Amino acid sequence: MAGFGTRMLPASKSIPKEMLPIVDRPAIDYVVEEAVNAGITEIILVSHASKTAIENFFDGHPELEAQLEAKGKTDLLDKVRKPLPDGVQVISVRQGPPLGLGHAVWQARNAVAGEPFVVILPDVLVDDDGRGNDLANMIRRFDDSGAAQIMVEKVPDELVHKYGIADLDGAPPAAGDSAPMRGVVEKPAREDAPSNLSVVGRYVLPPGVMDLLADTPPGAGDEIQLTDALATLIQQAPVEAYAMLGRTFDCGSKEGYLEAILHYALKHPEIGGAAKDLIAQANRG
Ligand code: G1P
Repeated sequence: MAGFGTRMLPASKSIPKEMLPIVDRPAIDYVVEEAVNAGITEIILVSHASKTAIENFFDGHPELEAQLEAKGKTDLLDKVRKPLPDGVQVISVRQGPPLGLGHAVWQARNAVAGEPFVVILPDVLVDDDGRGNDLANMIRRFDDSGAAQIMVEKVPDELVHKYGIADLDGAPPAAGDSAPMRGVVEKPAREDAPSNLSVVGRYVLPPGVMDLLADTPPGAGDEIQLTDALATLIQQAPVEAYAMLGRTFDCGSKEGYLEAILHYALKHPEIGGAAKDLIAQANRG
């Protein structure tokens, strides 16, 4: 997405926020890995002239590869040479002016070509911690029922104004399950929020959403909102809220970014032990 990552300035001034490292990999690599693990093989980046570093990351780098090969650094060579598994392709389309998330998604309409599609917002990392791939569960539910799937997570009442908020027909779904939605509203005031189930940034959608986006006027923040197109979809077709099993890290905020670094450092096969010691040391002051 073409957002400039203002919450992470000045770090994101000359590096796309999606390329900021979480330990030793850029954030976008975790997101693409999540998609690949869910069985997605065609990834469409909605990008911007200032974000070519993202496309380059998923491309080869012959000079670097030759150098690593000459030095016998085979471990690193494997990581650099194969950023994607066989059969997975990353392409990009440009958004131009950042007119909102709905506008960004709409840029992919030709690439999506009338197929159901998944939307992943790269600010948010999702780690299932071995509990099961949430995105894969959502795709399975969509395939079985035809109902669009929107991943949701509870947030404290004082934070509902920052998110899309789901309005459910009945009780909230159990973790790993979905429940019918009767509405969704973008960034409501606390007193107007229909629940405290926030839209996390993972969606499995039918192709018709692209047509709805074409007719969606600017909404909250004067931006074309994906949430508004989904509110229209709910009037026409089944849409379900999927309660996640995993946990999220909002890397668009400083706290979330730091939390992600600590989380992934502790899990890292090479430096997990060192990270644990360093955190313990920092706690001792
Ligand atoms: C976007 C969506 C919002 C969703 C949020 C998740 O908002 O419009 O519905 O809850 O992402 O991070 P943004 O954070 O781009 O303002």
